[in-house]
Parts: sequence; C-alpha cells; structure tokens
Amino acid sequence: MTIDTRTDGVAAPLLQLTGLSKRFPGVVALDDVSLAVQAGEVHALVGQNGAGKSTLINILSGMLSADAGTIHIAGVRANIRDPRHALSLGIATVYQELSLLPNLTVAQNLALGREPSRGGLLDVGAMHARAENALGRLGLDIAPDARVSRLSLAERQMVEIAKALAFNPKILILDEPTAPLGQRESQQLFAAIARLKAEGVALLYVSHRFAEVLALGDVATVLRNGRKVVTTRLDGWSEARLTDAMIGAQTERYVASVRQGRDIALSAVDLRLTDRVRGVSFDVRRGEIVALTGLLGGGQSEIARILGGDIRADGGAILRDGRAIRLTSPSDATGAGIALLTEERKAESILPNRPLRENIALASLADRRGPGGLVDAVAERDVVGRVVSDYGVVAASLDVPIRTLSGGNQQKALIARWDLADADVFILIEPTRGVDVGARADIYRRLDALAHAGKAILVVSSDLPEVLTLVDRILVVREGRIVAETKPAAVSEDRLNLLIQGAEAA
Ligand SMILES: Nc1ncnc2c1ncn2[C@@H]1O[C@H](COP(=O)(O)OP(=O)(O)OP(=O)(O)O)[C@@H](O)[C@H]1O
Ligand SMILES: [Mg+2]
Repeated sequence: MTIDTRTDGVAAPLLQLTGLSKRFPGVVALDDVSLAVQAGEVHALVGQNGAGKSTLINILSGMLSADAGTIHIAGVRANIRDPRHALSLGIATVYQELSLLPNLTVAQNLALGREPSRGGLLDVGAMHARAENALGRLGLDIAPDARVSRLSLAERQMVEIAKALAFNPKILILDEPTAPLGQRESQQLFAAIARLKAEGVALLYVSHRFAEVLALGDVATVLRNGRKVVTTRLDGWSEARLTDAMIGAQTERYVASVRQGRDIALSAVDLRLTDRVRGVSFDVRRGEIVALTGLLGGGQSEIARILGGDIRADGGAILRDGRAIRLTSPSDATGAGIALLTEERKAESILPNRPLRENIALASLADRRGPGGLVDAVAERDVVGRVVSDYGVVAASLDVPIRTLSGGNQQKALIARWDLADADVFILIEPTRGVDVGARADIYRRLDALAHAGKAILVVSSDLPEVLTLVDRILVVREGRIVAETKPAAVSEDRLNLLIQGAEAA
C-alpha cells in the first residue's frame, strides 16, 4: 500500500510510517502502526517493556525489515535495506544497547565506515578533528584518542550520541538515550536536542522517564502490545495520564511501607580507592534500604563494587555482622552472603543465546547440583517460574534465548537472577534502568519484601524519584566522599538535587 501524504500546499511530514507490522515466532511485535513526525518536532514513543518500541526503531534504522507497511521520508517512499542505507537517507539511530567497538579509540569509532583518507591513506589528523568537533557539539570533554573500553558507561553513551550527530541526520532516533546517563549528561543531551529541533531535525524519542517525555516531547505515540493506542500532542498531559494510557488500567502505585532497621549487617570503614573513593564509612542494617546517590562518576558505584567484591579497595575495611572480611572477588562476596548487581550486568553477565531459564538460574542453582552434577530440572523450573512472575518478566516461554526479550525484560530477568542468590546483603547499582513504570513498582515491592524479611539492601541510584520513594536513608556522595545524609521524608527532590550538585550544605 502506498499513500501519497502530500496535500496541496502542505509539506509532507519528514517521516511518515504507515501500517507497519512485524511478527516474531509467537509474538506480534508491531501491528499496523502508523505515525508521522514533522521537521523540528520531538515525537515521543512510549509503552511498557515489550510494547514494540525498539522493533519500530530497528525497522527504521534498517536493522529489521517489516512484514508489512511503508515508510516515507519527506513524502518519498523509502525501502530501507540496511543500516547503511538508512544513514544515507538521513536517519541516524542511537540504539538501546551500546554499539561502539571497545578496543578502538573514540575517534576511530566516530569514523567507522567513513574514514577520511588522503592519497589512499587514512587521514588521522582529519579523523581526530572530526571527532573533536562531534564531541564539542555535545559539550563533551573526552579525548578523541581515548580507548572506548576505558570510558565510563555514561561517557560511552555520550559518544554513541556524538556518533549519530556526526552524520548530520535529518531524522534522529533515540532509544532510551538517558538510561545510562546521570543528570548532568542528560542536560547536555537535552541542550543538543533543543538545537537540533531549531535546525529542523525530526526526532523520535523513546523513554520510560515520563518527566523527560513531558519536558521534551511535542507529540507522543503510545504503544500497547504492538498496537498504537493514541497519538497526541502532549500539552496538558501528566505522568499519571501517560501511565494510564500506556498500561490501559489504573496502575497500582508503590507506596513505601514502614520499615525498622535492626542490627548492622554490613559496614564500610574508611574505604579508599585512588582518587575515586576518599575515606567512606557507613553501615547498612538488616531490614533497611539505603541509597548512595550523586552525580555520575562521584564514586558511589565504586563504593558498591568494593562492597560486592568486584573491585579491591586500596585501604579501609569491610565488616559483615561486625567481623572484618576480605573480598578479592565477587565469589568471595557471595561466600560472605553479599550479592551484587552491577550496572554493566548485560555486557558482563548475560548469556544472550542461552534460554531465559538458564540465565536466571545461573547464580543460584549451579551449586545445588545433585549427584552426577545434574541440576534438578523440575526444581529449577519451579524456582525460576516464581521469580519470573514476581518480577513480571514477559517472554514467550522460559526456553527462548534471552536475547529475544525486550530490553526492559532482559533487565528484569537479571534482577530475578540476583534475587535468587542466597544472600543476606543485596547491593544493586541502577536497578530499574530501562524498566517501565509499572514494572518499576513491582521491583520496589519485591525489595521492600526482602527488607521486611531481614535482608540489608544497598542501592546506587541517580534516579531521584526512585531514591525518594524506595529507601529509608539517603547518603549523598560527591567526589569520593559522603557529603550528606538525609531521609526521604526530610528532603524535597529539589533540595536533594542541590545537595547532590554541592550547591547547598546539608
Ligand atoms: N529478535 C527477536 N526475536 C524474537 N522476539 C523478539 C525479538 N525482538 C523483539 N522480540 C519481541 O518483540 C516484542 C517487542 O519487543 P521490543 O524490543 O520492540 O519492545 P520495547 O517496547 O522496545 O520494550 P523495552 O521497553 O523493554 O525496551 C517483545 O515481545 C519481544 O520479546
Ligand atoms: Mg526497547
């Protein structure tokens, strides 16, 4: 079906999708979806984990082909063959998953596929100049010759964005761009988006952070189970209204319960790590949830990783139930009853081609093998089935490869794996990144239940609404030190933000 989108005197939308459909075995990921994005407009795409957002994006970027439907760019029909073709048509995409090559430098990654040459040789000077320019447009202070593997997650994401901008796209697609970013980086991105809008770029923006959607978006399309629910201008919309449109029912909000801290389960005593952690001490009690929060790179993630045995401190001590322990690996930590979920869990710990069931059972059932080294398959299914339902992991079955799950559902699966660890102390870094608002509440309820069961829980989070709803105590970390301690009842989001930025004394 071809539709002429041009009406007399009115320019066609820069991007027009008509009747897009896509099936995977056992799922209809997209069902007859149409939408249009105008030049200079931010069009938000919202929906629960698994609603079909990334599938739509991957069709536009040439990673997937649609089963049905058409795409027009400025009124001209486009048959997007592959990612290179999409780029040549002016469509650049920042994917939900990072795509940089870790062993190359920033400049090499930015130049991939279109390296400048002079007399048949790579023009290194031109390549670096181009990279500096692209990074500068985002206000980034990253050296072009830095190896990507040495950058933080947030820096890598900013390089991904710089890479997309370097194509000077007419249409820019961003799939949860702020998920790995802190507030400072998000602000840099928003400033760039405002400039692009003014230049007449059409933007398609996916995010589970509705405050962001409402602040940036002109128009939103809501998807539910692959179908379009509505396309609407966002004037007058609230987060609650977006949530209701997305889930299709009144959602049960997470309401914090009253918790009582008991004896101290874990203590950090004067922890130090080069210039990243500069003498940090605090306790986590059984029955309480404690947050470490701050700007990205402030050291909170390192503190959590030290306590989870993932990196070794240069100085200080860790006490478990009051006794000093030495951790030289995550398995030492597991042995001491401490389970750590890191922010790079995907890259570090997912087995993409193995079944969902196996990915979840990994940590917990490996040491419950019976005679002959066999895992009790029936017990495994039972246990895995329970956490899959607790965390609302949506998948065609427990036997599908985990890579076929949507991004948010993979995330929930890894939290489910971590939940099965037989631990007394649970440490999570950015647990709800990429998770939809409904599922986020499920995770909070589950953490609350673990705390009530006497577990000690430490969360690293840069998501302030999350910190303010979930935890009992907030430790603000800046430049490797705890600079303030407060409670959700005692601070507003604005004031917490000021504490984090260092603009106000505690
Ligand atoms: N390669 C694949 N093979 C099989 N099924 C897939 C594949 N990719 C996606 N799906 C399925 O298609 C549906 C839509 O997934 P999609 O990734 O588009 O969701 P999403 O809206 O981006 O969710 P999230 O917010 O979690 O990222 C899901 O049911 C998912 O399991
Ligand atoms: Mg997705």
